[in-house]
This record gives sequence, structure tokens and C-alpha cells, in this order.
Amino acid sequence: MTVELSAEDKERLVQAACLARKWSYSPYSHYPVGAALLTRSGKVYDGTNIENASFPLSNCAERTAIFKAVSEGEHEFTAIAVVTANAGSPCGACRQVMAEFGLDMLVLIADADGKIHREMTVAGLLPGAFTPADLPRP
Ligand code: THU
Repeated sequence: MTVELSAEDKERLVQAACLARKWSYSPYSHYPVGAALLTRSGKVYDGTNIENASFPLSNCAERTAIFKAVSEGEHEFTAIAVVTANAGSPCGACRQVMAEFGLDMLVLIADADGKIHREMTVAGLLPGAFTPADLPRP
């Protein structure tokens, strides 16, 4: 079930993503991305994109935030804010990783001034997602 977030909560999450974006390691693309993930328990995990001279090894901001949260035992997420210079959209890999943890999470896509350009659920971002429910139970 999608959780309603107040305008203030959205603003706070976007601001956390704006701050995280400053830690971006993106010497190749020069496209810094910040993300902030709100857990159902109320914690915020931020993340940024981390590139590598071996380009395919780079990690996106959204996945950094999600992996940080999961590595601390969190699996239930309410919302994620993603901030780029031009309010760019989450990539396909990040959409798939979001879908692993639920299709109802709210995704806020904002620019570097903190202006939210689009918001939708993971289900809206990745229609027909392949999810854990598609796998047979042992
Ligand atoms: N990037 C993200 O961090 N998130 C996305 O969803 C799209 C792309 C990063 C990866 C790379 O470091 C840079 O943006 C340019 O693709």
C-alpha cells in the first residue's frame, strides 16, 4: 500500500538527496546523482553514484542507498528521492532493484534546486515488473 507523505516529508527527503549528491564520485560522467531512501521505520539512508575507471563497475545513487539500507537489515521502504541536475529518471537497473522491495514505494524525481518534477510509484516506473513473486517457492 502506498504511504501518503506530507509536503514537508517530501521536501526533507529531497533535501537529503541534494546533500548526498555532493558526495558523488563521478569523474567520468560529470553527472552527480543523489538519492535518499525513507524506510517504513522512519530512517533515511542516502546514497550517491560511485563511478570506476572500469566503467561498468559504476554504481548508481539509488542502488547505493538501497544497498546501504538492506545491509543494515532494512527491507521495507516508503519513498526514495532522486536528485540530478536535470531531474533525470532512474535507470532500468535501479528500477529493478527498487521492485525487489515492493512496487508501492513512492519515487520522487527532483532537480538540484530541490524542485520535484515527477512522482510515481515503482509500479508506475516499471510496469509488469519481474518480482520475487514470479519465482517458485521451494
Ligand atoms: N546514474 C545514477 O546514479 N542513477 C540513475 O538512475 C541513472 C544514472 C548515474 C550512473 C553514472 O554514474 C551517471 O549517473 C551517468 O550515467
